[in-house]
Amino acid sequence: MMLHVPGVLTREQVAEMRAALDAADWIDGRATVGNLGAQVKRNRQLPEASPLAQELGRKVLQALQASPTFFAAALPARICPPLFNCYAGGETYGMHVDGSVRRLPSEPAAPGSPGAPQWLRTDVSSTLFLCDPEDYDGGELIVSDTYGEHEVKLPAGDLILYPSSSLHRVEPVTRGARVCSFFWTQSMVRDASRRAMLYELDTTIQSLRRSLGDTQEVLSLTCHYHNLLRQWAEV
Ligand code: NI
Repeated sequence: MMLHVPGVLTREQVAEMRAALDAADWIDGRATVGNLGAQVKRNRQLPEASPLAQELGRKVLQALQASPTFFAAALPARICPPLFNCYAGGETYGMHVDGSVRRLPSEPAAPGSPGAPQWLRTDVSSTLFLCDPEDYDGGELIVSDTYGEHEVKLPAGDLILYPSSSLHRVEPVTRGARVCSFFWTQSMVRDASRRAMLYELDTTIQSLRRSLGDTQEVLSLTCHYHNLLRQWAEV
């Protein structure tokens, strides 16, 4: 399931982030991919450990916590620190699949403890747009699945999420700059089709509540939703 989540950030939040990002030092985006990805990736990123990336990343995570739609669709168990990228002057990212697991930045180890590495399984990929479609030409995110190819170019502040198992690419940016945040989520529900069913059931129940109120049938469906989640969630 691909899902467009509008208004994750306000226009003011986007403007504040862009002011900081437009003055930042970017590095070659190939710093965070393996051999295969490095062959097709031509863009720039904020260094993962930079104070700015960490500060803005925290703001993105706060905004996600305030988004019931993101929660309902991703069912996040953990989210990796958001990263930031920029494409301009023909930069592009050819067809690729995101790595299946990512090592998280290590927490400070307790004295005398080696500090076990923390890993995140990438179930859901997200791109949060920090620019408007009219700011640049090209730069469409193309996600390929069994229904064909889907083209995504959203207003600033909006987010797209899609299964990390999908092949995808970013078309060359031929005018202006495409600035986005991107990150991966390990979901409580690993299977994408189960996540999609839970999301559809959840949104249908919310819609029934709005039109019918909290009837016995709504209560019964809500019970069914939670029992399915209880069957499938790994927490
Ligand atoms: Ni990717």
